[in-house]
Amino acid sequence: MKPAISVLFVSFEAAPFAKVGGLADVAGSLPRALRRAGADVRLVIPDFQDIAVEGFEFENVPIPSDWTVGIDFRPYSFRVRETRFPDGTPVWLVGGDDFFARPGIYNAPGGEPFGDELERIVFFNKAVVEVMKCLEVDVDIVHLNDYQTALIAAYMRRLYGNEERLARPALCHSIHNLAYQGVWPAERIQTMGFPPEDARYPSPFEWQGMINLMKTGIELADMVNTVSPRYAMEIQTKEFGAGLEDLLRGVSGKLRGILNGIDTEAWNPATDSHLKYHYDTGKLSGKRGCKAALLKEAGISLDRLDLPVIGMVGRLVQQKGIDLILEIGDALLATDVNLVALGSGAKEIEDGLRGLCARHPDRAGVKIGFDEGLAHRITAGADIFLMPSRYEPCGLNQMYAQRYGTIPVVHEVGGLADTVTEWDPSTKAGTGFLFRDAEAGALSDALGRALLAFQDKRAWTELVKNAMAVDFSWERSAKGYLEFYAEAIERHRGGKSA
Ligand code: ADP
Ligand code: GLC
Repeated sequence: MKPAISVLFVSFEAAPFAKVGGLADVAGSLPRALRRAGADVRLVIPDFQDIAVEGFEFENVPIPSDWTVGIDFRPYSFRVRETRFPDGTPVWLVGGDDFFARPGIYNAPGGEPFGDELERIVFFNKAVVEVMKCLEVDVDIVHLNDYQTALIAAYMRRLYGNEERLARPALCHSIHNLAYQGVWPAERIQTMGFPPEDARYPSPFEWQGMINLMKTGIELADMVNTVSPRYAMEIQTKEFGAGLEDLLRGVSGKLRGILNGIDTEAWNPATDSHLKYHYDTGKLSGKRGCKAALLKEAGISLDRLDLPVIGMVGRLVQQKGIDLILEIGDALLATDVNLVALGSGAKEIEDGLRGLCARHPDRAGVKIGFDEGLAHRITAGADIFLMPSRYEPCGLNQMYAQRYGTIPVVHEVGGLADTVTEWDPSTKAGTGFLFRDAEAGALSDALGRALLAFQDKRAWTELVKNAMAVDFSWERSAKGYLEFYAEAIERHRGGKSA
């Protein structure tokens, strides 16, 4: 039998251990899907202070005390803990008190920057490479995710190119969000552990006189992907390329778009432990129970139960297009609808949503903060799910929503365009509503179509069933990743880099 392909999958966040957004969901479920598809995968994440531990057992992995990570000529010790998902997928948590013994993942809890973001990244990236050396990791693929793990590629290819164990694996780099690139002034190259000339053109680090770690990952990886086919095309254009469009067009031969899947166990309306009532396509009555419970939780009277509930969950940042909702919010809430929102992020967007809901307290509720349970209850209890994102590499919420029979209204970009199809009342095909221009009027029109469809109970039930029937499970994408890995190995052997 052919030995299973072995993968070290490295991410800065992974559910359920540490989560900020969709990357955590992907890193927490893709490795397990790859394992089901026959790969031998180990997940590696930082050992943050607030790692969620419920249901997991952790064991210390002994590391000889003379193994350290050097940053700016100072040695820092690191440690490794191991745990396993119930299916056996192993996870290493790589930590050290100097950088991870504090609350917060990317920022301090209030959103304040730590000040030593780069040192934390360098520490984690170097420690992962040291772990590969001292624990004698021997894998076919090292799969990196976003710029926070891109320096691993640089250490493997530029510092340890002569060491068989570190030279052998092919490198894959996944772009989850091109807007976050990890840009630092050229002089920070020393903290990263490279000589000053590496920050000067031409080099995989250099970008417009600065260092850009997303670029480093893209250049050094044997294969690069992003998380939907549409976004893979979009990022090669000026509109969506965030300045890296020329680079991405230049490496289009090794660039793929592989749609994210969802964890169909954690997100299953028939068994979801965050819900009081359960349902499936055969028996939808539980969804009405979830709707009533949600209205209650949001402080909205049950007299409004027959009116549509519009739900929203997400990071409150420019990407998510919440400004469009704020633009139409008062007019929308003057009609017969309810709104329930959950999110946190930029203060002005938080304040905008708070203000909108405060002006319509009988029909609108917002919770500012991170609340996994409420995210599930909104996904289940709402009728319509709003995602007017200005851009969306993939987006998971619109897939969760469809699985829960909650009809997405989305901007036709990125993964949203790849996963939602417009409802056609005449053929009864489609799963949601899309709008093309990122403008309040276009959003209003799409919402108008959804609200009109909601009036026809029979047709709406068909639409709900269509949405619930779509298969968003990881299985197909896991296969896509196996092909992607095979291509990476091929390219690495052939010595191609673009
Ligand atoms: P992104 O990764 O850009 O944030 P995704 O749609 O891919 O967008 O994934 C977002 C994930 O984070 C989903 O699982 C969503 O439910 C979750 N999420 C976002 N904000 C919150 C919040 N305030 N509370 C709970 N879950 C949240
Ligand atoms: C990013 C993107 C989101 C995507 C997620 C997981 O955070 O914003 O669209 O679903 O990564 O790939």
